[in-house]
Amino acid sequence: MKKTSLNDIAKHLGVSKTLVSFVLNGKAKEFRISEDICTKVLEVAKELNYQPNRIAQGLRTGKTNTIGLIIADIANPFFGILGREIEQEAAKHGYRVIFCSSDENPDKSRAQIAMMQQTLVDGYIISPPKNSEDQILALSKGNVPFVLIDRYFPEIECNQIMVDNFDAAYKATNHLLKLGRRRIANVTINLDLINMIDRTEGYKQALRDANIPVEESLIKILPFSHDNKLVARAIKDLVNKSSPHKADAILFSTSKLGINGIESISALGLKIPDDIAIVSFDNPDAYKICVSPVTVVNQPLKEIGKTAVQILLSDIKRSDGPGKIQKIILKTDLIIRKSCGS
Ligand code: RIB
Repeated sequence: MKKTSLNDIAKHLGVSKTLVSFVLNGKAKEFRISEDICTKVLEVAKELNYQPNRIAQGLRTGKTNTIGLIIADIANPFFGILGREIEQEAAKHGYRVIFCSSDENPDKSRAQIAMMQQTLVDGYIISPPKNSEDQILALSKGNVPFVLIDRYFPEIECNQIMVDNFDAAYKATNHLLKLGRRRIANVTINLDLINMIDRTEGYKQALRDANIPVEESLIKILPFSHDNKLVARAIKDLVNKSSPHKADAILFSTSKLGINGIESISALGLKIPDDIAIVSFDNPDAYKICVSPVTVVNQPLKEIGKTAVQILLSDIKRSDGPGKIQKIILKTDLIIRKSCGS
């Protein structure tokens, strides 16, 4: 089906293509085009289902009103909800979002950044995978604005929006300590990313401050694949009565690990919190309908998404290059439910 062009609209109204272009590119006032004509142009554009060619627009004006968003996995509720918040905030300012899932794979994020460069996105919001420092460094030396979310690389100066992962894990572990748990485990993923590292460091510091020795056997580092067998083996080692590493509580560093963990605990016929208390990062709906609803570290996804878009658009709209770098750290909140034994 032939796409409607500016010419089609101009012929339909008996006006010039230039006039139609001015109206559809928001320049009617600048060129003193009457409101009546503007209304007619917009009505005919809608009637003929005119879809602006963003790339042609980008080549002509240098702007496509498009943001490139690269997150780990759009199917993960954390990233799915965060992506939705970003999309809604961008739409308020007339921007659309192109989504890509990197699967925490730097080769994928490299190809996705290249694809977005070719489609002339006006800026990026990226949750960068492990070993993608070179890609972020290259962006920081370029002229397309970007904002990192969820994790960053300490050696690279750029806009970033984080939560205080150390403080969140410290408080979650402390909460379990106050409930009398003493053999608290941490189940995390092997991503060597600053957010995961900070969560385990916050967990360790809470134990140290309570004069409880940190036992490496109570820290289980699992692959990003979340292989069910590996999760089940780690949980069995932490909850089996005969296990030398038996724990009385677990802090899960992600909800995907937490959901897999709860499945394994249930499969072993154990009860939460009676046999093992749990606290987990993130707050998927599934946690609310568990037999023992899960105590969670809740990240402010709406605020992360809104702030990322606002910082990015502020840089996109500047004519004299990027603004002052902003490094924002947001607080999380601990939502206490039954799973911690509170
Ligand atoms: O899988 C989602 C989790 O990992 C979230 O806690 C988020 O911080 C991401 O890095």
